[in-house]
Amino acid sequence: MYRTNTCGELTLKEEGKEVILSGWCDTVRDHGNLTFVDLRDRYGITQIVLDHSKNDEIKEIGKKLRKEFVIKINGKIKKRPVGTEKKEVITGEIEIDVDKVVILSESKPLPIDLTQRTNTNEDLKLKYRYLDLRKKEMQDKFVLRHDIVKCVRDFYNTQNFIEIETPILAKSTPEGARDYLVPSRVNPSRYYALPQSPQLFKQLIMIAGFDKYMQIAKCFRDEDLRADRQPEFTQIDVEMSFVEQEDIILLHEKLMKKIWKEILNFDLQTPFPRLSYDESMEKYGVDKPDMRFDLELIDLTDLLSKDEFNVFNEVVKKGGVIKGINLKGKSDLSRKEIEKLNEFVKIYKAKGLATLKMVNGVFESNIVKFFKDETLEKLKTVTKMQENDILLIVADDKNIVYPAMGNLRNYLGKEFDLIDKKRWAFVWITDFPMFELDEEENRPKALHHPFTSPKKEDLTFLESDPYRVKSDAYDLALNGFELGGGSIRIFDPKLQKRVFNVLKISDEEAQEKFGFFLEAFDYGAPPHGGLAFGLDRLVMLIGGFSDIRETIAFPKNKSAISPMDGSPGQVSQKQLNELYLASTFIEEK
Ligand code: AMO
Ligand code: AMP
Repeated sequence: MYRTNTCGELTLKEEGKEVILSGWCDTVRDHGNLTFVDLRDRYGITQIVLDHSKNDEIKEIGKKLRKEFVIKINGKIKKRPVGTEKKEVITGEIEIDVDKVVILSESKPLPIDLTQRTNTNEDLKLKYRYLDLRKKEMQDKFVLRHDIVKCVRDFYNTQNFIEIETPILAKSTPEGARDYLVPSRVNPSRYYALPQSPQLFKQLIMIAGFDKYMQIAKCFRDEDLRADRQPEFTQIDVEMSFVEQEDIILLHEKLMKKIWKEILNFDLQTPFPRLSYDESMEKYGVDKPDMRFDLELIDLTDLLSKDEFNVFNEVVKKGGVIKGINLKGKSDLSRKEIEKLNEFVKIYKAKGLATLKMVNGVFESNIVKFFKDETLEKLKTVTKMQENDILLIVADDKNIVYPAMGNLRNYLGKEFDLIDKKRWAFVWITDFPMFELDEEENRPKALHHPFTSPKKEDLTFLESDPYRVKSDAYDLALNGFELGGGSIRIFDPKLQKRVFNVLKISDEEAQEKFGFFLEAFDYGAPPHGGLAFGLDRLVMLIGGFSDIRETIAFPKNKSAISPMDGSPGQVSQKQLNELYLASTFIEEK
């Protein structure tokens, strides 16, 4: 027998009892005749005492023990001497007087510091992830993840959903990222794609007649990594039949309410606010606005394009826009600080950042001279500029102004501490455009995916003015992150064909890529829709972590490498031959 109890539960109530404990030596303190060990397992720490005078075996092992050895002890629960108690831990009033000790496993000194006293290199921590995961704060993250998943499954279960697994080896799904491909040995020159999401399968599950599907689903996307992106991540994936957008939104507000109540004991207020995509872009410059602070973008396109400032006039003549942010009370920003903001918007290809300070009741700027008094008076009103405010302006094409100002807004929010960190600011973004311009290919591409339903009222423009068509797609954003998104799907094969035509996907190509899927719609497809949340992002936000990797047991680093197992790794020529693959990339030595 290895244990009668865990290391996190014994108290004075059990004083005198004989117990067996097993665990890791968290700390080992040698006091000559006595060895004190903090014995650790997942549940906590219990102090054990090896009295060398008891017998030679205890003495010998007591001398030999080092940090992270795994041991088993038999002993008696004793009250700790007065003054040595640790009230803050459950086991802090007792210690175990050891009668017998066995070393189950020895440990070399660890290559990483679990006390966090030194700043261990990120890749080294990932290489020894299994050691890093020994830390309580790390284990807590996975307990949190587990609790969230359980709460999610409970919710859908009470709502009559069925969890169904979908294939990992499948055909490519059109989610917009690059696929990870898997060659088939038994079918030379053929490839599976790892699913970017279970999108096609969950729709087929609706056609099969399961009206409520959910899955905690692994997804794979070969895209550039960021703090909130991993090549391999998990979705809470959902599809429902005989529903409209409203049904899906209301149900998922309930889910969020339940998660926040159960996990954080926090009462979320519903309904969540909603913004149309256009409103979100106009006011915040992004489609996942951080609503924890104001600092809205102010439209100055008409006002500032009629006077003598040609930079602005030219921009507007070419169809561009002018947007401003009133940064309140910051007219004392130094030249250097303003230059920093200027450099920031340039990351997003803005040509410059115009600034106007309000000092002694008048605008101060190198560009005021270009504007009529009347314009400046109006500017003051629209921007609500007051003494010591500074107005930041970018003029350019929408595709530049929105991201530049949207990201500037987020940057200013952080930099000037404008964010109320205690808030949970959910917002639904609705009415997404159906298409966006694929600049490389100079043709429309689906903003969500090509199975998303265009809005009924816009169907007449589908061919004539596709960029005007809105879709029944929606996203849920939280504190500036895209938590999830979904849509009502097309279930009429004729409409699907029209959408493919707009996307310039030929019948043959559609047939080749998703023929199996399209055919299913000829056999009675119910109206349906769904959504998917990023589980890792959800855990990250609830846990207050800054990187999604914190929520994944064995994540990849920023170069999509796992420093632990060294994947992606090389394979033998024999394996390549079996797959009929030739390597065309020669690694530099
Ligand atoms: P979408 O592509 O918006 O929708 O993905 C849904 C959610 O998954 C999360 N997510 C990611 N998380 C971590 N790393 C990534 N690389 C990553 N990519 C996406 C985000 C995102 O909101 N099939 C549709 C859903 C539907 O229409 O039902 C889909 O996959 O939180
Ligand atoms: P210039 O006349 O080019 O020296 O520009 C005058 C001011 O306008 C400078 O502060 C520039 O940073 C700013 N500016 C130039 N182009 C833009 C633009 N597209 N949007 C906003 N400000 C700009």
